[in-house]
Amino acid sequence: MLKTWIQNAKNMVVFTGAGMSTESGLPDFRSSNNGLWRKKDPSKIASTEALNDNVDEFIDFYRERVLKVKEFNPHKGHYILADWEEKGKLQSIITQNVDGFHQLAGSKRVAELHGSLQHLRCQSCGKEYDSDEYVNKEYHCSCGGILRPNIVLFGEMLPQDAFRFAEEEAIKSDLFIVLGSSLSVTPANQFPLIAKEHGAKLVIVNQEKTELDHYADQVIQDKKIGELLQELDKELFS
Ligand code: NAD
Ligand code: APR
Repeated sequence: MLKTWIQNAKNMVVFTGAGMSTESGLPDFRSSNNGLWRKKDPSKIASTEALNDNVDEFIDFYRERVLKVKEFNPHKGHYILADWEEKGKLQSIITQNVDGFHQLAGSKRVAELHGSLQHLRCQSCGKEYDSDEYVNKEYHCSCGGILRPNIVLFGEMLPQDAFRFAEEEAIKSDLFIVLGSSLSVTPANQFPLIAKEHGAKLVIVNQEKTELDHYADQVIQDKKIGELLQELDKELFS
């Protein structure tokens, strides 16, 4: 069914979560085996409170995450999505991920709802730096302020431009495919519903059940994302 829907789609949009990057080696957050939030309380580490009250632990956590993101790379599935955009088959990607892997694989139309670990910004003056500063153990801006990853922390607003782009793309889509998200974080998890409400077919590819499975036209739980994308790419384009 999914292959036919992709073939007939005029406006296909893909929505990715941490499950898109586990096959690159990055742990996700909530999967039962090794999700990050199974070991750490996100509100104590990925929040503005942590940044204000616990800056050393905050920086240590994110320095380690930045090193991890720089150590690993996009996998075949990221490159297939970039190729489908190039071929005009994929309209855009809405991602909750902060690893920057879609862009590294060549995707151009990407909405990063939660920002990116590839950049840092000064908590005082807002100046942006490459996240290599964390690698070089630089944690202060030239103004003396603290450098933090340019990501959305729990309790912070999502970037307005990414949010608006995602909303427009979800409304226009006729096929909306979720890849690797538990769909448990708002407002990101509203976009599959917006697409569905505007007439799109909704497909959810996720190894565990998600909070929106009952809205989906098709749920695929028995395939890893990388494997599914390679199979579809072979059937559709070779
Ligand atoms: P995080 O651990 O920093 O938690 C912050 C997250 O909370 C935000 O990313 C956002 O998703 C969510 N959030 C905060 N406020 C929100 C709001 N108002 N509405 C909705 N969501 C809100 O998560 P992170 O920044 O995505 O990842 C941090 C690190 O975890 C990454 O650097 C990476 O090493 C690792 N990680 C990355 C990926 C990935 O990028 N593919 C996947 C899993 C884990
Ligand atoms: N194939 C299919 N599904 C997978 C794969 C895979 N290879 N790997 C993991 N999954 C599934 C897991 O079963 C899990 O349900 O991907 C899902 C990832 O869900 P979460 O770990 O909750 O990640 P995500 O939905 O992206 O989290 C949303 O919460 O803390 C924030 O910043 C974080 O942006 C993230 C947001």
